[in-house]
Amino acid sequence: MKQSFDKGFFAPHPVLIIGTYDSDGNADAMNAAWGGQVGGNQVSLSLAPSHKTTENIKLNKEFTVAFATAERIAECDFVGMVSGSKVADKLAKCGLTVTKSDKVNAPVIDQLPVTIECKVIDIQEEFGDTRVVAEIVGMKADEEVLTNGKVDYSKVGLVTFDTVGRCYRAVGDCVAGAWDAGKKFN
Ligand SMILES: Cc1cc2nc3c(=O)[nH]c(=O)nc-3n(C[C@H](O)[C@H](O)[C@H](O)COP(=O)(O)O)c2cc1C
Repeated sequence: MKQSFDKGFFAPHPVLIIGTYDSDGNADAMNAAWGGQVGGNQVSLSLAPSHKTTENIKLNKEFTVAFATAERIAECDFVGMVSGSKVADKLAKCGLTVTKSDKVNAPVIDQLPVTIECKVIDIQEEFGDTRVVAEIVGMKADEEVLTNGKVDYSKVGLVTFDTVGRCYRAVGDCVAGAWDAGKKFN
C-alpha cells in the first residue's frame, strides 16, 4: 500500500557545478541541485540571493555548468560547502583549476570533463530565491569522454544528489533504449 507524505522531492537531482567570475576576474564555483535543462537549449537555476555565484551571474550575465563526477566528488561537495565571499581561494583550496571559456565570460573547470556554457536570458527574484534562465551557447568536453565525436555518458562518471540520503549516487548503466524500449507495446 502507498504511504502519503506532505512534502516530496524530485529524484534524481543533477549535481551541477556553476562556474562564474567576480568583478576582479576571480573564479568561483558552487554546487547546485535545484536546476536543470528546460526545453531544447535553456537551463534554469534556483539560487540563494546571498551566494557569491548569484552576485557574479547578475554582474556578468554569463556562467558555466559542469556536471559533477564520482572521481572529483570531494571537490564538487566542497564548492557547495564554503562561499567564495568568505574563502577567496576556494577553488585552489580543493585543487581545482580553470580555463576561461572562449564563448562566455566564465571559467571552465579543468578537472570536470563536461561543461555547458550559458548566457542569461532572464533573472527573477521569486519565492525568496533568484531564478535564472539562460541559453546554452556551447559545451566543452574532454576527448577522453567522447565516442565517435559525441559525449559518451558511460565514460563521464556522472553522479546524482539523493536529497533523502543526503549523499551522491553514481549514475548507472544504460537499461534500455529511449523511444525504443516501449516499442514492444505497439
Ligand atoms: C548538494 C548541494 C546542492 C546545493 N544546491 C544548491 C542550489 O540548488 N541552490 C543554491 O542556491 N545553493 C545550493 N547549494 C549551496 C551552495 O552550493 C553553497 O552555499 C555554496 O557555498 C555557495 O557558494 P558561493 O557563495 O561561492 O556561490 C547546494 C549545496 C550542496 C552541497
